Amino acid sequence: MAVRNVIRGIGTYLPERVLTNVELAARVDTSDEWIRERTGIKQRHIAADGEVTSDLGYHAAMAALDDAGMTAADIDVIVCATSTPDLTFPATATIIQERLGMHHGAAFDLQAVCSGFLYGVNVADALLKAGGPKRALLIGAETFSCIIDWEDRGTCVLFGDGAGAVVIEAVETDDDDAPGILHSYVRSDGRYRDMLYVDGGPSKTQTVGHLRMLGNAVFKHAVTEIAQVMRDCAEQAGVEIADIDWFVPHQANQRILNGVAKKLKIDPDSVISTVALHANTSSASVPLAMHAAVKDGRIKRGDLVMLEAFGGGFTWGAALLRY
Ligand code: UT7
Repeated sequence: MAVRNVIRGIGTYLPERVLTNVELAARVDTSDEWIRERTGIKQRHIAADGEVTSDLGYHAAMAALDDAGMTAADIDVIVCATSTPDLTFPATATIIQERLGMHHGAAFDLQAVCSGFLYGVNVADALLKAGGPKRALLIGAETFSCIIDWEDRGTCVLFGDGAGAVVIEAVETDDDDAPGILHSYVRSDGRYRDMLYVDGGPSKTQTVGHLRMLGNAVFKHAVTEIAQVMRDCAEQAGVEIADIDWFVPHQANQRILNGVAKKLKIDPDSVISTVALHANTSSASVPLAMHAAVKDGRIKRGDLVMLEAFGGGFTWGAALLRY
């Protein structure tokens, strides 16, 4: 018997406030037309004053538990992927753990910027396969609005706040076609750390800092590395890209989604896109997009689904699962 880690529930949370491109154009030298044409983004959600990352993550976690028909009592470990924690420490995961009334198990944060959810899938899969915990709550939660330079038109139009969560359960099976995570593969290369970074932090500046990006260079690396890691992940899993039903990409820019689909000859209709509504919510973007496609009935139980992401570091990765 082998262990397969199955997604039992998925939930999301988006702050109430919606910031449109038109509103942004009143603040910086940009236009709704430019943002839509170059990125596909129409709007983003922004956390309210005092609404912090753990609030977003908690609401997404509750929704995922509800969807799984479980409570925090059923969870053994919480992994929260975030680059915008409430505080330098303790981990946002332990703050969420406390709010869930969970006093057992373990909770920790994971920082891989926009690839955080993919790294989380990789880590949760390994933890559950190692045989200790049976159920993991994996959360991607971000308030990038707090680290955006709202005067930099090159970045402020691209990001939004949000959270997504999944409950993953270890199941013993000898059926090769059983649902669950089939394979995941993550990569990083610190040579490119200066192309997408935050210019502050506890040790270096004792400040929080602002996001800085060489957009054009990041764009090119993203298309190339995402396509390669998807090929590698599929090959390592012994699956053809053509046999995958749905692709759930990180939602940074519609042109990146289109570029990767073209490179891999993927039907654009099989690529889930929520970038227009959410913009780039970093580690929350993959579960937010997956949730949309599960809830509207596109992704069904038994479908082969590939997740992918690319972000600061650079970090990147892909995961293949049977939903
Ligand atoms: O999640 C992690 C990964 N992040 C990403 O994947 C983001 C990757 N990068 C991108 O999505 C794109 O590179 C951007 C959307 C950031 C920029 O699009 P681009 O097609 O690469 O534009 P560009 O940076 O080459 O800039 C083209 C022009 C420039 O003007 P000039 O020099 O040609 O006169 C920019 O100054 O567009 C200008 N520009 C803008 N104009 C209006 C840049 N931002 C804006 C803006 N509104 N918001």
